[in-house]
Amino acid sequence: MALLFAAVAEERDGIAAEPPVDVERRAAHWHLGGTFVALAGGEIVGALFVDESGFGFGELGMFVARDWRGRGVGSALVVAAIDWARTRRLHKLVLSVFPHNEAAVALYRKFGFVEEGRRTKHIRRSNGELWDLVDMGLLL
Ligand SMILES: CC(C)(COP(=O)(O)OP(=O)(O)OC[C@H]1O[C@@H](n2cnc3c(N)ncnc32)[C@H](O)[C@@H]1OP(=O)(O)O)[C@@H](O)C(=O)NCCC(=O)NCCS
Repeated sequence: MALLFAAVAEERDGIAAEPPVDVERRAAHWHLGGTFVALAGGEIVGALFVDESGFGFGELGMFVARDWRGRGVGSALVVAAIDWARTRRLHKLVLSVFPHNEAAVALYRKFGFVEEGRRTKHIRRSNGELWDLVDMGLLL
């Protein structure tokens, strides 16, 4: 999972993390409760994690291996996360996404997430650019 995370970070586009990613450290500290993986031939090709707050909502993050995108992996992970969140009696799932990330925004909208706000120039990139973040939420 940490290796895949590092590979997606190398793209410098969809997730906030940028290289270098400390793979060993990330692997050692990964909280596996609320984490879902998609497997193909024994390899992890996608992962989604829900960080459960103490206030009834969970915050979601996810990534799919580049070669596996557009084939339903992300959708399967989101379905699993929504089912799990309901069994945990969470009332809401939330996430943040870069506004240019059309694939991610389309995926979340497909499952009923709505845009709740925009944080302007929120994330400073390693090249100095300041990127907006869109907050999305799904009431369960
Ligand atoms: C965002 C991401 C997780 C989507 O995963 P995926 O496996 O490609 O998603 P799916 O194949 O299940 O597609 C789900 C929906 O997204 C939309 N979609 C997928 N790729 C798209 C694209 N390139 N452009 C626009 N919409 C797209 C479609 O509406 C699709 O629904 P459909 O299958 O009913 O047509 C994946 O692109 C990814 O990992 N990107 C890099 C990391 C990232 O951005 N993570 C999210 C951070 S918020």
